[in-house]
Amino acid sequence: METRTILITGANGEIGHGLISHFAEHDGVRVVALDLNTLDDSSKSKCYKTYTGDILDNRFLESLSTAHDFDVIYHLAALLSTRAERQPTIAHKVNVDGTLNLLETAITQSRLQGKEVKMIYPSSIAVYGLPDAGAKEKANRIGEDQCTEPRTMYGINKLYCERLGKYYMNYYRQLDAQPMGGKVDFRCVRFPGLISAVTLPTGGTSDFAPEMLHQAAKGEPYDCFVREDTRIPFMAMPDGVKALLSLEAAPRENLSTQIYNVGSFNPSAGELKRRVKKAFPDAVINFKPDLKRQAILDSWPADVDDSRARKDWGWNPEYDFERAFEEYLVPAVSQFYKRK
Ligand code: SER
Repeated sequence: METRTILITGANGEIGHGLISHFAEHDGVRVVALDLNTLDDSSKSKCYKTYTGDILDNRFLESLSTAHDFDVIYHLAALLSTRAERQPTIAHKVNVDGTLNLLETAITQSRLQGKEVKMIYPSSIAVYGLPDAGAKEKANRIGEDQCTEPRTMYGINKLYCERLGKYYMNYYRQLDAQPMGGKVDFRCVRFPGLISAVTLPTGGTSDFAPEMLHQAAKGEPYDCFVREDTRIPFMAMPDGVKALLSLEAAPRENLSTQIYNVGSFNPSAGELKRRVKKAFPDAVINFKPDLKRQAILDSWPADVDDSRARKDWGWNPEYDFERAFEEYLVPAVSQFYKRK
């Protein structure tokens, strides 16, 4: 079997951990992991090579390109929505300039190797923007081309980078008399909020769901920063990893677009609380809405239409709400804090 070399940026983040664990269990993959922070030892041992470095440092990215031939780039590094509101210029640099640098890396790699290089990019429900909670209630499941009026720096960054990816794939240097060659196969999923049993996100606005679960498992009280009726789509981390891998594996000719919604379940914060309390009956969970973060959540859709992903590459999540808690989140999170 041919060995593939895969670059993962933001490898120390939630999705990075999931992807690295997945690839560690499969032959024929060399993972080159990159993060601003040193990778933890357990992830490190699963990688072929790890780098501590900055995606804004072009010289560093060039040295990576010299040292490796990448078949696929999973570009996960980003500042999430709440953090991006607090540090908008840094967010723009990391989320936009960082993505531009990785697209350039993909083009360089493609030229050096004389073949297409895939770039897999997680976008987000944050690219959507409904005017308020009333409009959100009236809207049905949102399709990829509807309501793309984001009101956060993060959402704007993600929407723009989706377009950058399409540009690099379809129109890059379209006026050159002598095309220099190099081709990126850019593919993107718009993720809902992700819930992992073994890692917590940092700086997201959908964090109330994973925080509620993890605090309950630790036996600590939780003040939830949203109203009880807040409803957005969520997904269990194994399905998040599955979505990226399935899109990467899909034959190009089956893809009718480059940007895909993926969904699995969409409980309200109140329903989440009831499910967490079923598993951890002593959990103390109160609702203390932060009106500013709430307004962001009120602009994100209650559900997404992922029929394109289902049709084009067979998207089908393993975990619905009940199964995610029963078979993945509750057993794994309990085990996680028992070991600590
Ligand atoms: N989880 C992200 C956030 O809250 C949204 O995709 O920023």
